Amino acid sequence: MAKQEVLDQETYIEEIRCENEQHFLLTGQRRTYYSTTFGCQANERDTETISGILGKLGYVPVENRKEADVIIFNTCLIRENAELKVYGHIGELVHLKRKNPDLIIGICGCMMQKEENRNIIKEKYNHVDIIFGTHNIYNLPKLISDSKKTSKTMVEVWDDNKQIIEGLPSERTHDYKGLINITYGCNNFCTYCVVPYTRGREKSREPLDIIEEITELSKGGCKEITLLGQNVNSYGKTLDEEITFAQLLRKANEVEGIERIRFMTSHPKDLSDELIYAIRDCDKVCNHVHLPIQSGSNDVLKAMNRKYTREDYLKVVNKLRNEIPNIAISTDIIVGFPGETEQDSEDTLDLIKEVKFDSAFTFIYSIREGTPAAKMENQIDEKIKHERFERLLDTLNPIVLESNIALEGTIQRVLIEEVNKSGEGMLTGRNEASKPVHFKGTEDLIGTLVDVRIDQANNWSLQGHIIDEK
Ligand code: SAH
Ligand code: SF4
Ligand code: F3S
Repeated sequence: MAKQEVLDQETYIEEIRCENEQHFLLTGQRRTYYSTTFGCQANERDTETISGILGKLGYVPVENRKEADVIIFNTCLIRENAELKVYGHIGELVHLKRKNPDLIIGICGCMMQKEENRNIIKEKYNHVDIIFGTHNIYNLPKLISDSKKTSKTMVEVWDDNKQIIEGLPSERTHDYKGLINITYGCNNFCTYCVVPYTRGREKSREPLDIIEEITELSKGGCKEITLLGQNVNSYGKTLDEEITFAQLLRKANEVEGIERIRFMTSHPKDLSDELIYAIRDCDKVCNHVHLPIQSGSNDVLKAMNRKYTREDYLKVVNKLRNEIPNIAISTDIIVGFPGETEQDSEDTLDLIKEVKFDSAFTFIYSIREGTPAAKMENQIDEKIKHERFERLLDTLNPIVLESNIALEGTIQRVLIEEVNKSGEGMLTGRNEASKPVHFKGTEDLIGTLVDVRIDQANNWSLQGHIIDEK
């Protein structure tokens, strides 16, 4: 059924493409689009698909939203501040719509999976033309076509999809690195998290489709791929073919031309020995695991429905370090989960000191309506949450700095990503552990891998100099 619906889009694609072509013939100007992402890498990947579809419709990208004929915001619902940020931006678009009533404004992504948010947009932001959900991206041509014919807000949001839609076009942000979905959705229902509600049930892509996509990227000059899933470790569970994430990694490692393989995110409850051996054995797979702990207290982990204990986590960390001595381990931590006591929060700090993470993303717990944790008693006072957050950073920062200082004098393989904003002929890239590294070099080196000797470690980055330019 989904396939047929994709095919049905062809009529709309043809219609809009012809219209845009005529506009070009008349004015000498191509119609334009501006698309942006407010969420995680899964959302970023979706924006690439949206951009690909808009390209197929005959729109060309612009960097400045003021110059666009179509504006798409791909939104995130993970924490309250992610939501507030989006509303601010949508509000600002009203001026552009007044200046250009033909402007098409589309809001999509995780925020739009929630009815309350759709209603807010419809009631308060009626300059928005289309609303579509995370499972309805393929439907964009019809939505644009329909919105041209009416002043009403067009809405298309499914709670989930029955099957994965392959073969949609995509406009990749970078040619030297690429994001690849391996699973969609999530079945874990951590009690604080909206993702299972915004992304539907977990589904794995067929290994052949994944390897084909990696091969395609490699042919286009891609050096680094990141395999994406809310929990990559459960890859394969929904497929007929028996395949594990570790086996997929080994297959990906065989693709010629690709030099680096990353993956995100590993759920600690599912990190198998087989995976540890695959990371160890595959030369292209980065010696880095992002392994979100969330809390160091067993009571909190239980209330979060994480399905592992602090002891299980430490066991996995030890195994990783025994098999792969130089492995970098990063994590996510939430403070202020409902019911978290002073002792629970101390347990998290102790765990950080014990593991000595190489880096961490830290979050203040944000109540998400519709999740079990939102209804829990003992929500923590904002002031206490902030105090605990400060203490978390005070513990974490010196440990991360220590891990950076340990790299001084070492040679790090770095994929160069951009010119450093400071100017002064500096470039920025990332080492295997995904830490930013700054060094002198020329713009033409962007997208290449170089060896950099680290001269100085800072809190958030490393400084060094290139020692080879192969
Ligand atoms: N699938 C990944 C996480 C995706 S969300 C995993 O299980 O690790 C990224 C991070 O956002 C989570 O790891 C968690 O630390 C944080 N997060 C999710 N929901 C949150 C909430 N309600 N409040 C604060 N942080 C949250
Ligand atoms: Fe959210 Fe948990 Fe799923 Fe990660 S594993 S996306 S934190 S429910
Ligand atoms: Fe990602 Fe935010 Fe959705 S983190 S999956 S864009 S809620």
